[in-house]
Amino acid sequence: MSTAFDAGNGKITVPDIVSRKSGTSFSSRASSSGNSQSDSEKRKIVCLTAYDYPTARFVDEAGVDVVLVGDSLGMVVLGYETTLPLTMEEMLHHTRAVRRGVRKALLVADMPYGSFHGDKSEAVRNAVRVVKEAGAEAVKIEGGERRMDLIAQLVEAEIPVMGHIGLTPQSMHAFGGFRVQGKSMEAAEQLLRDARAVEAAGAFSVVVESVPRELAARITSELRIPTIGIGAGPECDGQILVLHDMIGLSVGHTPKFARRYANVGEAIRNAVGAYADDVREGRFPSDEESYHLSSEVRERLLAVRRS
Ligand code: KIV
Repeated sequence: MSTAFDAGNGKITVPDIVSRKSGTSFSSRASSSGNSQSDSEKRKIVCLTAYDYPTARFVDEAGVDVVLVGDSLGMVVLGYETTLPLTMEEMLHHTRAVRRGVRKALLVADMPYGSFHGDKSEAVRNAVRVVKEAGAEAVKIEGGERRMDLIAQLVEAEIPVMGHIGLTPQSMHAFGGFRVQGKSMEAAEQLLRDARAVEAAGAFSVVVESVPRELAARITSELRIPTIGIGAGPECDGQILVLHDMIGLSVGHTPKFARRYANVGEAIRNAVGAYADDVREGRFPSDEESYHLSSEVRERLLAVRRS
């Protein structure tokens, strides 16, 4: 399933996101007009994950710029301990549901672990499926320098790519856990090389995850594509969070940068507890919540004897 949208009518596209890079203007660069950046172009890019139809609708209607079907899907919705087990089929299934709910935001889908690590043509085929069968408008690929060739091939195949550097959860075994990245001089230099490589390969934006604020600020000021921070400080061109962390619907540890704006988990527990009490005490359903027979049918039914 693939849904086509008209540009205009407020639909956010890849060039719109690129044009929101702070300190530059994609449109003015493209036209060489030298126009200064308008206020709307300077606005921070707001990104959030969604994994199903209702969350996609709510997130899109609330006015985010980018909806990401992140592979965090595996952890926060499917209950895996890491993002590694998530399959292509699971990603396609959830991206299709999100596609049905997103009208305005740019829809990006993560490439699951293993779907782009082997043969490059298979990786391109998998990314094409995400666009063609599930309706994503771009894919996200974890990794820096070592993903340059693949990113370039995807761009060549008309698939916009969002990079992802820093703490890339698919590398958790190599990193030895979920750790802040880029803290030493060597690691900071490697991250700068990763950021430059992702940009040079043609990515339209890059997620920078769990990186010291000062380093993320440096990457942001060097790159011409927008940086989307998560645990990377306020200087990034945009921010992303995992929806379930931010609304209090995730189970287990949440990182310190995941500011909580609601406690939906507690609201669900309270609502279900109240429902259970009402059922057990005979308070649910009430007469108003019940359907009724007409008096005529009721009387006729009463007159019918049990055979
Ligand atoms: O999988 C995900 O949700 C992500 C975001 C946190 C950037 O990669």
